Amino acid sequence: MNVTSKARLKIKNKTIELPVVEGSEEQFGLDISRLKADGGCTTYDNGFANTSSCMSSITYVDGEKGICRHRGYDIVDLAENCMFVEVAYLLVHGQLPTAQELNRFSRYLNQHSMIHENMHHFFSGYPADSHPMGILASMVTSLSSFYPLLSHKDPNFDITAARLISKVRTIAAFSYKKSQGEPVVYPRHDLSYCANFLNMMFSSPVACYDINPDIVTLLNKLLILHVDHGQNCSATAVRLVASARANLYASISAGICALWGPLHGGANQAVIEMLNKIKNDGRNIHKYIQKAKDKKDDFRLMGFGHAVYKNYDPRARVCKRLCDEFLPKLGIVDPLLDIALELERIALEDEFFISRKLYPNVDFYTGILYRAIGIPTNMLTVMFALGRLPGWIAQWNEGVESSTKIYRPRQIYIGPKKRAFIPIDKRKKERAHRNIH
Ligand code: ACO
Repeated sequence: MNVTSKARLKIKNKTIELPVVEGSEEQFGLDISRLKADGGCTTYDNGFANTSSCMSSITYVDGEKGICRHRGYDIVDLAENCMFVEVAYLLVHGQLPTAQELNRFSRYLNQHSMIHENMHHFFSGYPADSHPMGILASMVTSLSSFYPLLSHKDPNFDITAARLISKVRTIAAFSYKKSQGEPVVYPRHDLSYCANFLNMMFSSPVACYDINPDIVTLLNKLLILHVDHGQNCSATAVRLVASARANLYASISAGICALWGPLHGGANQAVIEMLNKIKNDGRNIHKYIQKAKDKKDDFRLMGFGHAVYKNYDPRARVCKRLCDEFLPKLGIVDPLLDIALELERIALEDEFFISRKLYPNVDFYTGILYRAIGIPTNMLTVMFALGRLPGWIAQWNEGVESSTKIYRPRQIYIGPKKRAFIPIDKRKKERAHRNIH
C-alpha cells in the first residue's frame, strides 16, 4: 500500500491522523481503518458511494472523463481488436495471452463445455415462464455439487475459470431452449466460444443454424463491453460473499443475483420494455421524458445515468456505433433504435439531464444489438452475466488472494433505545396507550 501523506481529522476535542493512500492513476483515499479505534467513530456513506472497499488492479474507471480500462487496456481498443476469450484470459491472468496460451485456454473451454447429465433434470422443474436469471443463479450454485471446489492457489485454477466460463454459456443456452419447449443442443468442439453459444441457442433437430460471422463478431464485442467494471453492485456482492471464504460458485451466484436488479444489469431488459412501451403509446417520447423528470413519478429513463460516469459511458458510445455498423449489415430495421436515438437526443438537450450529468449507460443500446442477434428480451441480462463472468472470477480471485478481511460494514443505529420487555397479554393495552394500532 502506497501511503503518500497523512490527513488530520478533528473529532470533538481529539485530533487523529489518517494515512492517505494513492493508486497508480492519481486516485487518493483516506485510510480510515483506525478511525473507530483511535477516533471513536465510523464513517457514514449511504450506498458506499465514497468508499473504496479494496485495492484492485483489474479495472480503472474515470467517471468524469468517461474512461474505462481493463488491466491498463482501453475498453475501446479491446472491443475493436480482441475476441472475447482473449479478454476473458486478460481479466483472469492480468495479461493478454500469447497464441499458445490462448490455444490452451480455448482447449480448456472446449473440454469443460458440457454440464453433468444429472443437472439437465433441474431445468425441467422450473415453470416455463421462469426468469432465466433465477435459473442461472441456482444452476451456478448447483455446479458446486458436481465439480471440485478448487482453491485459488491450485495450479489448476485456470481450469476452474475455463470450466465456469464455458459451462455458464451452456447453462444460459439450455435455459433458453427449455423455455421454448425445445430439446437442448449440446456444445461442439469445432466451434469458437461465441459461435458455439449461438448454435446452442438457435439450432434445432429440424433446422441447422447458419452461423453468420458478422453476428459472431458482434457478440464477441458485446461480451467484451460487459467484462468488468470495478467495484459495482455485483462485483461487490461477489467479493463480499468471497470475504466469508465462500466458494467461487456461491460467490458468482451472488453476483448474478445482484446483476439481475433493474438498477444494475437488469436495466438492459428494462430499456427494451420501456422502448416498446413508448412505441405502443403512440411514440410519445416527450411524455416519458416528463415522467422521468417528475419527482412524484417512480419512472426513470432506463439505460440512463450511472453511479460513476458523469460523462458519456464509453461502452454506450461503442454500442451506439455498433448499431450504425451492424444493423444495416444484418438487414435489420428496428423501430426501437429510432426511438432510442430520439430519446437520447431530447434528454441530452434537457436541463434536468444536463445538470445531473445523466448520459446513456452501457445498457441503453445493448438490448437493441442483442435483439438484432435474435436474443429474446428476458435473456438480455443473462447475456450481460455471460460477459461479466471473467470479471467476477478476477474479482473473486483478487479478493481471496489479498486475504481481504470479512466484509462487515458498520451502521448508525437509529432504532428505539433500551426498553422494558412487555408480556404478551399486556401488549395490546400498551400499544393503545401509545396510540399504535
Ligand atoms: N432517470 C431520471 N432521473 C434520474 C435517472 C434516470 N435514469 N438517474 C438518476 N436520476 C436523477 C435522480 O432522480 C436524482 O435526481 P435528484 O438529484 O433531483 O434527486 C439524480 O439524478 C441522481 O440520482 P441517483 O439515484 O442519486 O444517482 P445514482 O448515481 O445513485 O444512481 C443509477 C445511478 C442507479 C444507475 C441511476 O442513474 C438509475 O436509476 N438509472 C436507471 C437504471 C439504469 O440504467 N441502470 C443501469 C446502470 S449501468 C449498470 O449498472 C450496468
